[in-house]
Amino acid sequence: MACKMDILLANGARMPALGFGTWRASDEEVEKALNEALIAGYRHIDTAPVYLNEKMIGKVLKQWLEAGKLTREELFIVTKLPPHGTRACSVEKFLKRSLADLQMEYVDLYLIHVPFTVPEVDGPFLMNEDKEIVLETTTDHIALWKAMEKVREDGLARNIGLSNFNQRQIQRIIDNCQIKPANLQIENHIYLQQPELVKFCKSNGISVTAYSPLGSKGIETLLNREVPNLLENPVVKEIANKLRKSVAQVLLRHLLQRGISTIPKSTNAKRVRENIDLFDFKIEDSDMALLDALDQNIRICDFGFFPGISKHPEFPF
Ligand SMILES: NC(=O)c1ccc[n+]([C@@H]2O[C@H](COP(=O)([O-])OP(=O)(O)OC[C@H]3O[C@@H](n4cnc5c(N)ncnc54)[C@H](OP(=O)(O)O)[C@@H]3O)[C@@H](O)[C@H]2O)c1
Repeated sequence: MACKMDILLANGARMPALGFGTWRASDEEVEKALNEALIAGYRHIDTAPVYLNEKMIGKVLKQWLEAGKLTREELFIVTKLPPHGTRACSVEKFLKRSLADLQMEYVDLYLIHVPFTVPEVDGPFLMNEDKEIVLETTTDHIALWKAMEKVREDGLARNIGLSNFNQRQIQRIIDNCQIKPANLQIENHIYLQQPELVKFCKSNGISVTAYSPLGSKGIETLLNREVPNLLENPVVKEIANKLRKSVAQVLLRHLLQRGISTIPKSTNAKRVRENIDLFDFKIEDSDMALLDALDQNIRICDFGFFPGISKHPEFPF
């Protein structure tokens, strides 16, 4: 059961529209789940140094490649420049570190994870005496992007893009770049559809990837607050019943039909398979309209795990 839908990137490269998310998955979980995902047909894998699992992902992929079960060209590997690396002088160093951990010569897409910078230290991010995250407020997006362009020119990343950048920040990069961002990865789901930002990206040839497409169940313990449960929405449930599909499948298919790629995470074998089984049905236009109407501008992943982030001069991102 392979992913049968691709997103065309501006340079003609193809990115499988459905990818495999790996945040909050331990090494042990990711080893098992990634094997399940590759068997199920996932070829687009999303990771980041801050997920602390690039080494295990690299190990599993190497096993598949060495066994001849996959070729590198079939894979679409995405990783990100971490918040403690968002300085022009650090881009190559952090990308090379990710490549070493992933045991690869290039990634298919390298994203700037966040538009802000925290000090580079060994261990957890620094907090001040008020228990707020220590920020460097001098992030230079233009210089940073030039360094991203350089790693693309050097062949270390086939495509470069952004994550969690707002429209103003993206426009500033577009106005000053040689190579436009190929992709923007943002939170996107029925309660946070961000239609203006998505339209802006599409009109500029920037593909959009939705993270937390299922509402990031379990994030409440990190955020220390309740979050809405997308999987319990009655409108989605009714459409799912009608289509004989799961609520998660309808949520994911809704994104794909909006032209947005998505990267659900699961470490449960059954749900890993369920989340890619999206290509034998279609949500009809009237139901798409009902799902579109559920937008409430509710952000779940609001960076609450970076206390004090709202004091950053460029917040909200
Ligand atoms: N760029 C960024 O800043 C950023 C931020 C957040 C996330 N991401 C990326 O996006 C990926 C996805 O986002 P996410 O992990 O926040 O959340 P998500 O994919 O919306 O939700 C994951 C949660 O949903 C559960 N789940 C998965 N499939 C399910 C199904 N079919 N039915 C019911 N529950 C299901 C999972 O539990 P089980 O594992 O038990 O199935 C897990 O707890 C991440 O893993 C990461 O790769 C990027």
